[in-house]
Amino acid sequence: MVIAIDGPAGCGKSTIAKLIAKRLGFYFLNTGSFYRAVTYNHIQKGLDPRDKESVLKTAKETNITVVNGDICIDGKNVENLLHGPDVDLNASYVSSDPRVREIITSLVRSVASNMNIVTEGRDTTTVIFPNAEYKFYFDASPEIRAKRRINQHPEGQTYEEVLRDIIQRDENDRNKEVGALKISKDAIYIDTSYLTIEEVCEKVVSVMDK
Ligand code: DC
Repeated sequence: MVIAIDGPAGCGKSTIAKLIAKRLGFYFLNTGSFYRAVTYNHIQKGLDPRDKESVLKTAKETNITVVNGDICIDGKNVENLLHGPDVDLNASYVSSDPRVREIITSLVRSVASNMNIVTEGRDTTTVIFPNAEYKFYFDASPEIRAKRRINQHPEGQTYEEVLRDIIQRDENDRNKEVGALKISKDAIYIDTSYLTIEEVCEKVVSVMDK
């Protein structure tokens, strides 16, 4: 079974998806981590994330596996290296190339095959798993998402910088040629702005209990 959740950066998808997965005994699969892994590898090589041809080459060459839920490149666990501001912003450029998306989409599908998963991203309900049994779209205002991010990672960036990056990433995510962030017709829309984590979880589970 596939439970798919899409929504913009910082709307609570990962936190909730992990909790739902734990509750149901399903695997949690964060599809954004795959784009982050390609981005990280590309930056590590000293290459430009906006240069589409070199990004495509990196996407083809990056050997991504998932071990105990963590992303590995060439067998090395890089999970904790994928969430710096550099990867945050550049992943939205890397993920804008349809050719890169094709590579990641088939990789995600093969990792997920025959598993019960709760997955999240931008196009899990529309492109990667159009036949998912349950589909959700989470939303929250950019300001609320920036505040959440600052609370989680108070070091480094100011609120204004985080907000500016979130607005830029939203713009990039919504205007992709392929795999753009959009609300699937058959997804259940949940605005998480003023809900606690538990309240969002309850809403998701109550839909599944029906
Ligand atoms: O969810 P996230 O912030 O970890 O995602 C990282 C980047 O990858 C973000 O710019 C959106 C992009 N992404 C995507 O284009 N499609 C997905 N299914 C998941 C993430």
